Amino acid sequence: MPKTPTPAAERTSTPVPQRYDGVARALHWLIAALILGLVALGWWLTQMSYYDRWYQDALFWHRALGMAVLPLAAWQIVRRAVRGTPAPAPGLAAWERAAAKAAHRAFFALMFALPLSGYVISTSAGAPVPLPGGLAIPALFEAGDAARDAAVSLHYWLGYGVAALAAVHAAAAFKHQWLDGAGVLRRMV
Ligand code: HEM
Ligand code: HEM
Repeated sequence: MPKTPTPAAERTSTPVPQRYDGVARALHWLIAALILGLVALGWWLTQMSYYDRWYQDALFWHRALGMAVLPLAAWQIVRRAVRGTPAPAPGLAAWERAAAKAAHRAFFALMFALPLSGYVISTSAGAPVPLPGGLAIPALFEAGDAARDAAVSLHYWLGYGVAALAAVHAAAAFKHQWLDGAGVLRRMV
């Protein structure tokens, strides 16, 4: 017996929220974990003195993992530019969609501004940034003390700013998942 095709109205009656693809989801959570971990590591690092037992290790991993954010962010941004993103989640007000878009743009800007300001701090006297395996990222220029101080202050505000933005962003994701039932979190997990 031939199969009766499902009427179009029925097919569209259960809205299936479009999800980000697997690579986009993996990149999102990897970068999010790195950034939140780096904020904690950065905070810890600044609580220690130069002679503290953990200072050198904390600084080494903060710098190496921080520099790793750059290629990951570049991959995420190029990928989404080439492949696009899922259509906006249904049921969000126009201002909510605009706020989400602005937050995502700010995150992308921070993913570059944070490692670059960290790079300026660390290479300001001409020293390279050491990486695991004896590798190093060379100092491309010697920014000097004044630029270092400006970079330290910028890095501080951007570092705690990204944590604040992540808190608002996560709260919005939970609200639109559980309170509004818009299935927003589901798109990214
Ligand atoms: C997304 C990446 C990064 C995040 C989220 C981040 C975040 C932070 C935070 C929150 C602090 C503590 C600021 C304070 O309390 O004064 C800090 C300190 C620091 N970060 Fe980063 N960081 C990142 C990448 C980097 C990179 C790539 C480098 C160097 C190559 C770097 C070098 C430093 C240094 C040297 C400090 C200590 C600054 C001081 O002496 O006050 N960071 N970072
Ligand atoms: C520092 C941490 C984080 C960063 C940098 C970040 C960044 C981003 C960016 C850039 C996007 C847009 C992705 C794209 O369009 O390609 C996004 C989407 C999303 N993020 Fe995050 N995120 C962070 C933490 C979190 C946390 C903690 C949660 C939830 C608990 C979360 C949930 C989501 C969800 C559900 C979306 C999809 C939103 C939609 O469908 O419009 N994110 N995030």
